[in-house]
Amino acid sequence: MEKQTDTGLQERLERLEISLLLQALYEWYGYDFRDYAYHSIKRRIWYRVSAEGLSTISGLQERLLHDAACLKRLLADFSINVTEMFRDPTFFREFRENIVPMLRTYPTIRIWHAGCATGEEVYSMAILLLEEGLYEKATIYATDINADVLTKAKTGLFPLNQMKKYTNNYLQSGGKKSFSDYYSVTSHGVQFHPFLTKNMVFAQHNLVTDGSFNEFNVILCRNVLIYFNHTLQDHVLKLFYDSLGMFGILGLGDKETIAFKNVANHFEQVVPNQKLYKKVR
Ligand SMILES: C[S@@+](CC[C@H](N)C(=O)[O-])C[C@H]1O[C@@H](n2cnc3c(N)ncnc32)[C@H](O)[C@@H]1O
Repeated sequence: MEKQTDTGLQERLERLEISLLLQALYEWYGYDFRDYAYHSIKRRIWYRVSAEGLSTISGLQERLLHDAACLKRLLADFSINVTEMFRDPTFFREFRENIVPMLRTYPTIRIWHAGCATGEEVYSMAILLLEEGLYEKATIYATDINADVLTKAKTGLFPLNQMKKYTNNYLQSGGKKSFSDYYSVTSHGVQFHPFLTKNMVFAQHNLVTDGSFNEFNVILCRNVLIYFNHTLQDHVLKLFYDSLGMFGILGLGDKETIAFKNVANHFEQVVPNQKLYKKVR
């Protein structure tokens, strides 16, 4: 019984320390992680406490407030950049089959990849649009909170050891050519050809604190909302709703949904079992 009480107290203290640390980050540096999914943010904070050789979250807070280099390390921990080309290939196949015909009817196409990480998803979209004859009239805006991943994304340089997987994904997604047509192998990795980056615009954008910056035909925000709590998911989905033109398409990650969210009634699912939604009202 006494042990349980101790555990309860420890958890309350932990919550308090996490809440104070996130508030301090927000007030001092303007980074707002207060509505990120609690358990994921807690794991990352404890990882940083131990990586810094500290023993308490309050100790980490002190270091963060007095040492901006520590902030950079924590931001890297918070930003989970796992990604791949043609991730969840059926998503891209359904996009090709169901969304591309609609995009053909538009004079210009604006696509926003929100939370693009190191850019693999963005290059996948460029390849898909190129094969469908739509790239010339498209502009692809690729944004992320993390400036370092954007720097990587701009280079179009990806690890050679991922190419087998990416080639399989590409073929499963309905790719029409030989995947190697899009890159050259160099001593630093695989360099994707510059014709793919021609219509890409990379910019830092924070989904929590920044607003809309254009009207889009398509917004893809895949595997980002899973890191947010319900309040923040609603906030970001409203931002996407406001940033889409009528009949604009919202694409989410496999484990994400707009069901039961505030904007749910404004969208229809385009394909059953796929996270592709059309703004209808
Ligand atoms: C797991 S990656 C997803 C990459 C890609 N969309 C995919 O599905 O493969 C999540 C990305 O979201 C970014 N992110 C996290 N919080 C963000 C925020 N508040 N605003 C913009 N991007 C954010 C992270 O920096 C990271 O690059």
